[in-house]
Amino acid sequence: MCGIVGYIGTRKAQPILLDGLHRLEYRGYDSSGVALVDATLAVTHASGRISELETKLGGTVPASTCGIAHTRWATHGPPTEANAHPHRDCTGRIAVVHNGIIENYAELRTELEARGHTFTSETDTETLAHLIEEAMKAGKGLTSAVQTALRRVRGTYGIAVVSADQPDKIVIARLGSPIVLGIGDDELFVASDASAIIGHTRDVIYLDDGEMAVLGREGHRVMSHDAKVVTKETTELDWSDEDAQKGGHPHFMLKEMLEQPEVIRNSMRGRLNVEEGTAVLGGLRDVAGRLRDIDRLVVVACGSAYYAGLVGEYMLEEYAGIPVEVELASEFRYRKPLLTKRTAVLAVSQSGETADTLAAVREAKMKGALTLGIVNAVGSTIARETDAGVYNHAGPEIGVASTKAFLSQCTVFALLSVFLGRQRQMSLSMGKRIAEEMRRLPDLVAGILEGRDAIRAIAERYAATTDAFFLGRKYCAPIAFEGALKLKEISYIHAEGYAAGEMKHGPIALIDATFPTVVLCPKDSVYEKTRSNIEEIRARGGKIVAVTTEGNEEAQRFSDDVIYIPKTLEMLTPILAAVPLQLFAYYVSTSKGIDPDKPRNLAKSVTVE
Ligand code: AGP
Repeated sequence: MCGIVGYIGTRKAQPILLDGLHRLEYRGYDSSGVALVDATLAVTHASGRISELETKLGGTVPASTCGIAHTRWATHGPPTEANAHPHRDCTGRIAVVHNGIIENYAELRTELEARGHTFTSETDTETLAHLIEEAMKAGKGLTSAVQTALRRVRGTYGIAVVSADQPDKIVIARLGSPIVLGIGDDELFVASDASAIIGHTRDVIYLDDGEMAVLGREGHRVMSHDAKVVTKETTELDWSDEDAQKGGHPHFMLKEMLEQPEVIRNSMRGRLNVEEGTAVLGGLRDVAGRLRDIDRLVVVACGSAYYAGLVGEYMLEEYAGIPVEVELASEFRYRKPLLTKRTAVLAVSQSGETADTLAAVREAKMKGALTLGIVNAVGSTIARETDAGVYNHAGPEIGVASTKAFLSQCTVFALLSVFLGRQRQMSLSMGKRIAEEMRRLPDLVAGILEGRDAIRAIAERYAATTDAFFLGRKYCAPIAFEGALKLKEISYIHAEGYAAGEMKHGPIALIDATFPTVVLCPKDSVYEKTRSNIEEIRARGGKIVAVTTEGNEEAQRFSDDVIYIPKTLEMLTPILAAVPLQLFAYYVSTSKGIDPDKPRNLAKSVTVE
């Protein structure tokens, strides 16, 4: 989850590197550093935010036109200046930045120290710098020295390496942690993800696992793990620098919530065929025949993507008639999943780089299952390693708390349910009914967002709470889990999401006047059951924030606060119900003075296990 940036070209490197770090700060921000190379190697580190590094660098901009930089999310060693990347070798002439985990670093360090190497940090990364040093002392050039070093490593890496002995090149490599190469005019860039360099170029190359590349002043070359030069296609990014900026909003999270009507439109664009009552999913075209034959679907995901999968489970079982299991990717990959050739495994991932989800996909492929993806980041590893899939087209999601990507994931699940349903028993009229209602979603979401001031007022009344329940049933149970996660991750309040029917099996013991409950109780097929849960809570003095359907006036009587959402099909209600909970969490967070874009302990993309 760290951020890596590199530059080699005709411009001064430092400003470009610092700008890239700022754009990657959402990936990790507990310390940072920059290495500038020409005849010498100048390395500067700082703990804390990137601004601390800028202060240390001062106002002068060195002439160097080649360098690498890093913003860290600590995995090994606390977030101190000594542990900040780039890390150097004993000579101080080699610098390495790394995203990932070197699992055998301890034994490598012991071996290197026994041969006289002196370590200055507690990180796993520093072992790489010393391994490269040894290979170069043995007469290898920087590129083959990096290859030699990486052959000793077990674990994951996305790295960039420079050396004062060969100042006109940057060597990069990836195994398990994303690395993207940016192609400019007479300049080259490297980054953990494209948002760091999109301001300079939209032409990028994604390295695959096991690949390396050498960036020089005359161009670049990509090599496979056995040092053979490979030809890679260049991807033109379909979003702009502007998309990746805040657009005048105080936080990326608010900007991205307000983008949701357009995001839903983009997720459905060209994919709804109302006349034939079906969905057109071009990314599944090549596997449509196999999909017709599957008898089970296993969804693997983490965090919010997992909750989107739970929404999809209800949709697919009810409307496509396919048995669905939704598995936490971090658990699936260590189980003995019983997959057959008629099982499809569907990975849901905004970043397309989540280590546990990627590992689950690889496990499924090993067992011969058809692997699918619902992914937002174009060209990401999961998108490239699954057999087929559907892109969200939600644009870059920078806020650590997933909002627009989550809504897009739920939207794509609705499209998938119609597509698979129409391959099976779903009637033309049902398909048309769903497709017509889906076209209303952007405006319905826009209406909820327009009422955000009322939600803000409610949120501020609960900002001081230390605990909260989120309850929902059926299609809204996953939204209760998602709402609790949002509040947890950006306001640091202990919030638990539960299926409402579970309350009387224990959790209700926690209820008293200081323990509020947000209840999703739209007028749907399980409304009366949920109403009973609300009465059980009120009987014990618990405060109720109800999210219910417009016009449900009785909610004023059984709730302390009410948030209304428009009426829609039961299967589409979770898409609407999620929005007030996103806003609730956002306003609680900001009223507590927290930056919701950079919540403590978190990073946007969990590319380590
Ligand atoms: C959600 O708000 C969190 N940021 C986190 O749970 C996230 O959904 C999870 O890490 C999965 O990420 P992915 O969609 O990129 O795989």
